[in-house]
Amino acid sequence: MSISERIEVCQSDITRLQVDAVVNAANRSLLGGGGVDGAIHRAAGPELLAECRTLNGCDTGEAKLTRGYKLPARWVIHTVGPVWHGGGHREAEQLASCYRNSLALAAGQGATSIAFPAISCGVYGYPAEKAVELAVQTVAEALAQYPVIERVLFCCFDDAMAARYRRACASLPEA
Ligand code: APR
Repeated sequence: MSISERIEVCQSDITRLQVDAVVNAANRSLLGGGGVDGAIHRAAGPELLAECRTLNGCDTGEAKLTRGYKLPARWVIHTVGPVWHGGGHREAEQLASCYRNSLALAAGQGATSIAFPAISCGVYGYPAEKAVELAVQTVAEALAQYPVIERVLFCCFDDAMAARYRRACASLPEA
């Protein structure tokens, strides 16, 4: 399969997706929050927080793995996106690391499918157009290293975000 054939855009609540791994847009404490983080913890149940407590937090750009518990997904990959401060504080580099490190963890577990939310595009204020372009390019470049990952879903919570991802994916090379 070509890289572009392995990348999909969907519009859904990420907690409902039947994939091997869902990525959580967490904060550095890994102790839960609002948005995607809150939804994933609510759906996975209290055992998720209990496991997160053993992880000793997570630095921005890094990713840590837990089980999925009551989620359909077998694993949750918790990654911490950058807070947008105007673009001059290595935000793009840190956001790219979130995607790269999440893919590496998923591949290391033998996951064949992974769903990403729009990391940092909510509370953390990253401009969506920039974040979406970076996410698609970073994932497309990294996927070549991980043949085990057959499906990457960019999971969007609204029409506007889905349209952005579809536009960005449309410009990926077919080959
Ligand atoms: N499924 C899919 N996408 C979702 C869901 C959901 N259930 N809930 C929210 N989103 C979308 C938002 O619309 C946004 O586009 O996920 C994107 C990321 O938004 P946030 O969840 O706010 O994540 P982020 O911007 O990375 O901020 C992280 O927010 O919830 C806290 O604890 C979290 O402190 C951390 C911060």
